[in-house]
Amino acid sequence: MIEQDKIEEIKRQTDIVDVIGKYVQLRKMGKNYRGLCPFHTEKNPSFYVNPEKGIYYCFGCMKGGNAINFLMEYEKLDFPDAIKRLANNIGIEIDTTKGLRYKELYEANDLACQFYAQCIVSEVGRRGREYLNRRKINLDRLKEFRLGYAPVSGGLVQFMRQKGVNFARLQQAGLVTSNRELFRDRLIFPIFSLSGRVIGFGGRGIDDNIHPKYLNSPETPIFKKGEGLYGLYQSKEHLRAKGDVLLVEGYFDLLSVYQHGFANMCAPLGTSLTEHQALLLSRFTRRVTILFDGDLSGIKAALRAIGLLIDAGVDVYVALLPENSDPDTFINTNGPQALEQLLEEASDFFHFYRGAVKADTVNKEVVLIKDLIQIIGRIKDPIRYDRYLKHAAHVFNIPVETIKREIDQNAPVPTPPVQTTKVSREEKLMAMILSGYEHFSLAKKYLTPEDFVDEGVKRLFNKLLKEDSFDIAELSGMVDEGLRGKLLSAIMRGEPVSKESLLDAIKNYRGQVSKKRIIKKKSEAVRRGDDITRQECDRALLALEREQLNISIEKAAEDEQPNGAKREAN
Ligand code: CTP
Ligand code: MN
Repeated sequence: MIEQDKIEEIKRQTDIVDVIGKYVQLRKMGKNYRGLCPFHTEKNPSFYVNPEKGIYYCFGCMKGGNAINFLMEYEKLDFPDAIKRLANNIGIEIDTTKGLRYKELYEANDLACQFYAQCIVSEVGRRGREYLNRRKINLDRLKEFRLGYAPVSGGLVQFMRQKGVNFARLQQAGLVTSNRELFRDRLIFPIFSLSGRVIGFGGRGIDDNIHPKYLNSPETPIFKKGEGLYGLYQSKEHLRAKGDVLLVEGYFDLLSVYQHGFANMCAPLGTSLTEHQALLLSRFTRRVTILFDGDLSGIKAALRAIGLLIDAGVDVYVALLPENSDPDTFINTNGPQALEQLLEEASDFFHFYRGAVKADTVNKEVVLIKDLIQIIGRIKDPIRYDRYLKHAAHVFNIPVETIKREIDQNAPVPTPPVQTTKVSREEKLMAMILSGYEHFSLAKKYLTPEDFVDEGVKRLFNKLLKEDSFDIAELSGMVDEGLRGKLLSAIMRGEPVSKESLLDAIKNYRGQVSKKRIIKKKSEAVRRGDDITRQECDRALLALEREQLNISIEKAAEDEQPNGAKREAN
């Protein structure tokens, strides 16, 4: 469990525009930001984010909530993980029991990293240094990437024992298997998290006969191969500044090219690029140039990566290496200028795709065209989409309309925009109560569950009375989806809620709704000749009037002391 205080602090410091802006292109529209909804297909933006209230809402599909909901919905995280993600974004550490376990894993990895790094600069690591020399990697890289060497004779377990780390913990960190050290006679590439902590390792066998050639740490709670990118920690600031990145396949490709002054680089961790990695990249850069091996498998991997990167909303280029070379051999054989030249000549994904796929029969050509059109249909940027659409029409000599129809046919069925149903008076009041939850004591004082007729609203109010905290993210467990949508829509449309405006709203609500209800009850009682009920109603009306007066008095008191609230805060 994460402490409530921590959650509040994380929520306070979180900028929802910053969080959602990593996934959705948002434009400022008055107090709100607007963009295309990531939860349903639409051409006209109906997705709104309000930084002041910390919520988002789509008027098309009625999805909405706060930053926590967004991450839960979009990244398919559970509540604690979404909180952690937010905490991470703003650099808050959270101590959970899980967090403690993580901490031990981070420590074990960091110590192992120290051990391997120590080895590579000492006698036992001569083989590692010689290997780096042979691979033309400058020893300056040792520090920057914390490279290391795992000796043939091992030694990690003893080292760790001295540091007080037992075997079980090494097992959890994936550094040893049942009885032996995982890495032996391997060059060690530590893999860093975005915040610079060592989360796992890659190891290249020094002896070319060793199998497998590359060995990675197994997945652990802190290391997920498909989620990280090698080199991203070292180059992320360059990426942000320059807005583009060079994507290579291997550790050595990265180091060799990096040390020639190409600072914007990263590589997947021994798997083909994943959706997760593509999205991660898109957080740092708008443009990716794929620089994979010049063989068939490299080309295939590039074709696969294109779709994922387009889906992540980045612009994709591919630089084609000569057959039988990878970025490492290429730069070491031909020098950095040759690579620079190659990068300048990089083709956009369209030309690369067209050139890479053999279309020597009409049938194959049809498949190629359909594949390409399908990729174009996924381009997020409207201008780029339009350009590629026209380009494809021109190149394949097919009318734009035909291509569009093809795209529309294969597009996922858009969620039909829901008629924004009318929001009732009590739903509006409840929206204000939620929006201004910090003033909930007022609602508690002047409202009872019986003031609400709608069962859903009444139940929600009852729940609120029982809890001592409330988070928009919890709303989905408290009301049905229809009511939740209406409440969020009202919150999004409404003004920010102050103590005064909430008091006013409660007063109006009580005045109009309760009064109406009591009067109705009274006239029925009169008709029935039910004197007792009639008197009850009279008393209720009187009480209501007195209460209205009280609310006004409380409000007036507030007005007389405009600094009252501030004084309290100090
Ligand atoms: N890889 C891996 N496991 C393997 C082979 C490869 O994890 N058995 C990953 C490594 O990250 C490696 C990348 O895939 O860096 C590219 O592999 P490959 O092209 O086969 O090797 P190179 O990078 O050319 O490696 P080297 O130059 O060291 O031979
Ligand atoms: Mn290589």
